[in-house]
Amino acid sequence: MKVQDYIEKLDQLYFQNQLSDSFKKELEQLPLDRKDVLEFVERTFRFMKMGKFPAKDICLITGQTLGTLMSRILPGGWEGKVPPITLPGRHIAMDELLKRSEFGQKENLNMLDIGCGFPPFTTLDTVKSFPSWTITGVDPSLPNYLVYDDQGNYATLDENKQTVYFQPAMPSLDNWNNLLSDSKATKKRFEGLLEDLLQNPATDPSVLPRVEIEPIRKYETDKLKFKRGGIGQVTIEPQDVIRCFNVMIYFDHSFFEKALDWFSEQLKEGGMLLIGANWAGSTESFYSVYRKRAGKLIKTEFAFSVDCVAPMGIVTWYAIHDDNAQNAELMEYVSRIRSNDAFMEEFYTFHDADRKRLNICARDENGYYGGPGEKMDAATMWGGIVTMLHGLNKSGLNAKAVEVLNASGLKARLNEVGHVAVIF
Ligand SMILES: C[S@@+](CC[C@H](N)C(=O)[O-])C[C@H]1O[C@@H](n2cnc3c(N)ncnc32)[C@H](O)[C@@H]1O
Repeated sequence: MKVQDYIEKLDQLYFQNQLSDSFKKELEQLPLDRKDVLEFVERTFRFMKMGKFPAKDICLITGQTLGTLMSRILPGGWEGKVPPITLPGRHIAMDELLKRSEFGQKENLNMLDIGCGFPPFTTLDTVKSFPSWTITGVDPSLPNYLVYDDQGNYATLDENKQTVYFQPAMPSLDNWNNLLSDSKATKKRFEGLLEDLLQNPATDPSVLPRVEIEPIRKYETDKLKFKRGGIGQVTIEPQDVIRCFNVMIYFDHSFFEKALDWFSEQLKEGGMLLIGANWAGSTESFYSVYRKRAGKLIKTEFAFSVDCVAPMGIVTWYAIHDDNAQNAELMEYVSRIRSNDAFMEEFYTFHDADRKRLNICARDENGYYGGPGEKMDAATMWGGIVTMLHGLNKSGLNAKAVEVLNASGLKARLNEVGHVAVIF
């Protein structure tokens, strides 16, 4: 099959043949020999259809990401392993939510951050917010070696000095593509660099390139510990709070359910569990909130940031399995919001003007959301996207989305951090 025929088929199935030529052009780079990538793209489009996203509301940058980046960052590009992609500040809203919850005022609680990633940026952010808490970060991919090249790109290597994962200093599309265009060569380059650096270790920790051995240990304090392992694989004390973010998007529903049983066993009575996903600066956040009551895990809310109504990233639809119930649940709520014409008119008026002002994924002359302004770097773009989410909240569109859900028969509220929360 030709890639163009494949794209036409998807366009017809999911967008009534309305995708723009430039979006379809981006998809032409899809590798037809990567079943996992094609399935991912189709799943993404299926979720978009469930969420009632018309072709004009899918940013051109999403086409670029699907066309070129997915083959490199999906587990299929990493020998089936879940890549520890993470970013500082990613859980800023989640930390704030905890602070404003009944737990936020309490001292000396304990918390498990499972699938914390490496470097454990988000766990470290949380430690700053809760200095009296004892926090445990757990992840199966905590590395034995961490190697930075002279550009600040880094790789994690296992006990056999094999590269497990690498990431650009700033994870933009171009920077990823530079490292991933020949991923075998990049892995080898980092393995060679490790050998060199072990023979000539840099003494100054600010110098590049450099190596760190058992790098996780340097983060540990009497209040912060790390363990290598996964859900169901580590022994820990009963916890007040468990956070599991950007992990379940990689697993199927039966794993999710088994994980819930394990989380329930690990939580103290009254404890709270947050499971969800998001991206830079807590954009595209969506998560379920559970409490342990009378020995049972009860789902109390499902919350999301209002930018999920028109996201610029892809986390909103990111799932490796068709039966991912969290994405489906998000799409159910987004579709209700998107079906409300009065809300959408107000949303577009405000948000499209913001996109134009910041020159990020603004509408083109045919009314399609575009990409970032020319030569805009990733930090500027994501800074702008975070600003736009704050703008949506400040304008009250998050509260109006709550009203829409309430009018549609659900019970919703604006939660403590301005997320739209459906209550159970
Ligand atoms: C995308 S990263 C998320 C890191 C961090 N929580 C964040 O939100 O930025 C996903 C992490 O899940 C970890 N992981 C994979 N399988 C796991 C499992 N069975 N249990 C716990 N974590 C797992 C991976 O090693 C990886 O570091």
